[in-house]
Amino acid sequence: MSPLQERIGARSMVFGFSQDKEVVAALARAGGVGILGAKRRTRQQLRAELSWIRDHADGGAYGVNLVFRSGGGSLPAPLPQRHLDFVAQLQRRFDIPAGSTEGSPHLDPTRGSIPELVEESVAGGARMVVSGLGVPEPEVRDLIRAGDVLYGATVGSPRHVKHHRAVGADFLVAQGSEAAGHVGSISTMVLVPQVVDAAGGLPVLAAGGVGDPRQVRAALALGAVGVWLGSTLLTTTESGLPAVLRRRLLAATSDDARLTRALTGQDERALRSAWTDAWQEDGAPPPLQPPLQAQLVHDTLVRIIDHELEALASVAVGEVVGMMAAEETVADLVERLGAGFDGPERA
Ligand SMILES: Cc1cc2nc3c(=O)[nH]c(=O)nc-3n(C[C@H](O)[C@H](O)[C@H](O)COP(=O)(O)O)c2cc1C
Repeated sequence: MSPLQERIGARSMVFGFSQDKEVVAALARAGGVGILGAKRRTRQQLRAELSWIRDHADGGAYGVNLVFRSGGGSLPAPLPQRHLDFVAQLQRRFDIPAGSTEGSPHLDPTRGSIPELVEESVAGGARMVVSGLGVPEPEVRDLIRAGDVLYGATVGSPRHVKHHRAVGADFLVAQGSEAAGHVGSISTMVLVPQVVDAAGGLPVLAAGGVGDPRQVRAALALGAVGVWLGSTLLTTTESGLPAVLRRRLLAATSDDARLTRALTGQDERALRSAWTDAWQEDGAPPPLQPPLQAQLVHDTLVRIIDHELEALASVAVGEVVGMMAAEETVADLVERLGAGFDGPERA
């Protein structure tokens, strides 16, 4: 058992990111480490969700993923008329009906402040706070340390490692370009060993493109001590992903996981759709900077899901989507991947 595994108290070094508390708790129960994606939560939402997870984790390990950089909180206005007109035009072109304006917490661009969310993470029993992007301010790092909680950091380049080592990271997540969401340009195969070399002995987890035991084995061969999942959790039984997206992901190929700025304004790998294609056509305006693009398209994306407009529906997903062919429980996924830690004969 690696020192990191001992400190965390997990049976398996399968970490997984999810915005669904049910998936996070299921990972913890299965012996892995569930990480709640909380960058868009308010303080009250995070408190309630961590309390639920604690009650459903059977003592297993869980943590919280946050984004440590400015740009959250209240949104600047107004949005450019050209962009508002383009969205209205897409609504007409694709017959996107009016829908509930209630919105989904997954798309909501507002959130609590970083110190508030860190305080709630510590109070809510998180064993680690993991940066998805950026380095925490010294006072935030102090809050994490004072809470006796580990600090992990996602890196997409070996150049980022020194910034997190300087603030005393306990482990690193090397996330390759094939992963879901906001990614760098270096693939997992090339990134992981470089991050291991730059880490000065800090444990490294491999993220991006892990969906079966062969990929777990590859991650360990590259020097990682465990793996960090994202995409494969979207189609687990416990995931709250709307049915229209679940159907699309189970049918998608790896080539359907494309880089787009149409959803949030930052380059992220997501399921190709008629919506993401439309933003790349001649005459389309360039997507707005975050968080404005999310504000611009939020209501329309909610309507697309509410009305099950399959061809338009998109979600962040990585290239491993081409290997996600059937729904499975989180426990089955963790067990299946566990074979990768045991040796080649169990391929
Ligand atoms: C729907 C979705 C949303 C994500 N959002 C974030 C995020 O907010 N912060 C973050 O650090 N990683 C985020 N990720 C990336 C995961 O943490 C993880 O690094 C990545 O999914 C691993 O690669 P894989 O998708 O090939 O499994 C997201 C992933 C998915 C599937």
